[in-house]
Amino acid sequence: MKIGIVGGTGGMGLGFALRWCVNHDIMIGSRDPTKAANAASEYSESTSKFYGSIKGKITGNDNLSVVKEADVVILSIPYENIDSTCSQLLPNLKNGSIVISPIVPMKKTEAGFEFIPLIEKKPSAAELVQKYMKDKTKLIAAFHTISEKKLADPNLVLDSDIFVCGDDQNALSVVNGLIKEIRSLRPVLLGPLSLSYLAEITTPILLNAMIKNKMKNPGIKII
Ligand SMILES: NC(=O)c1ccc[n+]([C@@H]2O[C@H](COP(=O)([O-])OP(=O)(O)OC[C@H]3O[C@@H](n4cnc5c(N)ncnc54)[C@H](OP(=O)(O)O)[C@@H]3O)[C@@H](O)[C@H]2O)c1
Repeated sequence: MKIGIVGGTGGMGLGFALRWCVNHDIMIGSRDPTKAANAASEYSESTSKFYGSIKGKITGNDNLSVVKEADVVILSIPYENIDSTCSQLLPNLKNGSIVISPIVPMKKTEAGFEFIPLIEKKPSAAELVQKYMKDKTKLIAAFHTISEKKLADPNLVLDSDIFVCGDDQNALSVVNGLIKEIRSLRPVLLGPLSLSYLAEITTPILLNAMIKNKMKNPGIKII
């Protein structure tokens, strides 16, 4: 598969690329194609350290070129930039391609990390993204609680669950497969995309617990 990472130059982009390049071609997207190409060559160098050789290759380009080619697009951008980014990119998706939103609408206040849709009466990230998709069933919400630091170290055993929300069985199976390709991650279905706010809100819960209880990059696991 060709996996395109919009905003792939950020912390999560590195982790997704390093984990999925073992079996897939990874296209790093950026607003700046030179920045994307530089990130792609840095990530490629890291793969030899971790794996020796890999099946896929990592390349970089502007976000629009990436979404036009990708079979799976992961939107690795901040919540605040969904409207400006998705309005330009998502009408240009390849037919049938799947979009993953790991986006968490969260801000730090005096109280701690809070969920923007609750305190500012705004839409969840998945709700906002879905507005710009022709085939709205191809959007899957997942990966909200995995820490970028853990994702970017393929030697780490993550032993965590990933909440998944979506409406299309085929898209869910593809994303569940990608979750299982990351060693010791387990997909856990929460329900349709309309419930993705539940998956998104787990991140501020986790981060507040982490800070108050001095935990290091915690994850979520249902036992
Ligand atoms: N960090 C985590 O541990 C973590 C965990 C779970 C979920 N998430 C979610 O995953 C997403 C990505 O996280 P991240 O930490 O990788 O984010 P990030 O580093 O803050 O940003 C990712 C990329 O977004 C692009 N970007 C920044 N401003 C933009 C703008 N105005 N318009 C369009 N693109 C812009 C940048 O790429 P270019 O400058 O190259 O265009 C940047 O490298 C976020 O929504 C976050 O909530 C993060």
